[in-house]
Amino acid sequence: MTAVGIDAVEIWTGNLKLDLPGTFAPQKGEDPEKYTKGLGLNASSFPDSYEDIVTMAANAAYRLMDRKGLEPDDIGRIDVATESAFDNSKPVSTYVAGCLEGVFDGDFHHANKGERKFACIAGTQSLDDAYNWIRAGRNRGRAALVIATDTALYARDDAGEATQGAGAVAMLISEDPSLVELSTHQGYGSADETDFLKPNQQFPSVDGKRSVQVYLARMREALMDYESVAGDIHPDDVRFVPFHTPFPGMVRKAGLLGYRYLTRDTAIEEELAEEIGRQPRLEAFDTEDAYHDAVREYTDALKGTDRYREWYAETIDPTLTISREVGNWYTGSVHVARASALKHALETGEDATGETLMVGSYGSGAQAEVHTETVQAGWTEEIGALNVDEQLDSRYDLSWAEYEEVHDVHNHEMDVEVEEFTAPESEFVFDGWGRMGERKYRFVE
Ligand code: HMG
Repeated sequence: MTAVGIDAVEIWTGNLKLDLPGTFAPQKGEDPEKYTKGLGLNASSFPDSYEDIVTMAANAAYRLMDRKGLEPDDIGRIDVATESAFDNSKPVSTYVAGCLEGVFDGDFHHANKGERKFACIAGTQSLDDAYNWIRAGRNRGRAALVIATDTALYARDDAGEATQGAGAVAMLISEDPSLVELSTHQGYGSADETDFLKPNQQFPSVDGKRSVQVYLARMREALMDYESVAGDIHPDDVRFVPFHTPFPGMVRKAGLLGYRYLTRDTAIEEELAEEIGRQPRLEAFDTEDAYHDAVREYTDALKGTDRYREWYAETIDPTLTISREVGNWYTGSVHVARASALKHALETGEDATGETLMVGSYGSGAQAEVHTETVQAGWTEEIGALNVDEQLDSRYDLSWAEYEEVHDVHNHEMDVEVEEFTAPESEFVFDGWGRMGERKYRFVE
């Protein structure tokens, strides 16, 4: 069977940044380490006044198509995943196609376009759609453009405000991919939950503490489901585990859950038993509460073992480097985590070809999905082409007063105008409103 997967990736960050320990913490009267150590975040990316989900998506896609020498005819499908859409009918992908048609020869008139919604997991679901379309033989030799784009803003003073972010990830899905092959097997953990939702409102209603528990519960189910179809995964067989990263502190918890799960009934569990005992088994307890208390105790002890710390440092920590500087990009977050891990491998001179990634996606509402990916021979060229470090370095560092203005500019209920903080260059920008309330865009040379 021909390999299908991600051929290329590009990342586009919002052009502004908010320094969490330096600017946010003093205003909130909090210890800066709550953000840097607790949540694991140094900064959030924000969109400048001329940026939105369309400009960021189009800019990521433009970089990708330009670099790969693609023309619109090469693309048979454009799927945009977002939970920040501003229109209940017209999909963001049509705007993105319109932008790209302004700079490339040809058009996307014969490409299927759509928009995927299921909180943050929609980015991964769009990969599935592209994968299935290619596998079904409906692609006529063409590739799919999948773009995850979000302005992850929370209401001012919401606990989630510290985890905001804005950016887009564009991915090209094709046969014989250069970056990673996607596994056919997938595992799901899905339930009707109300942890985070936006009932026809821009900013989310969030039960933050509960959302953390729901993430872990669904992820555990997805792992179980994955192993039930693909067979047991041994921790030594997995090079990196990119998880959905609303903030790195969440992934610290997911990493522990994953390791506990993967080492159960393995020689590693037995070796660790000398130090911290064996993992609790439900059948050994009279009540579920007692079992959960024992699991918590075991997990706390596991966190302190050298064996776990080494695994975390090698397998999980490299996935978090970019996230620490940008915050939550919702649909794009897990795809940023994959890129971050492979960037680490490139920078440390590792030969990752043939290695396995176990990818854990999550969307509130709620659903987790686990699949594996095999790193392909072209990964060094693809990851080496990312300019994410330069993008992050050139963001404009907002003062507190400027942050408040920027938040208002992007608040759909407010009508505020602010001078742009950065000068756009070789990128798409928002250019005002059309007669039917549509958004207009232009490319700035
Ligand atoms: P909070 O109340 O601001 O923070 O809310 P906290 O008091 O829980 O502290 C956070 C961590 O910092 C804790 O670590 C503290 O101990 C630690 P933990 O105990 O959890 O390991 N801490 C410190 N560490 C060092 N030095 C200090 C210090 N002070 C505290 N001085 C909360 C945190 C996550 C609830 C909030 O940020 C929030 O509501 N976020 C939004 C919701 C969210 O991101 N949920 C994640 C799971 S759901 C998800 O991922 C889906 C999502 O992406 C949406 C979608 O799918 O569309 C959100």
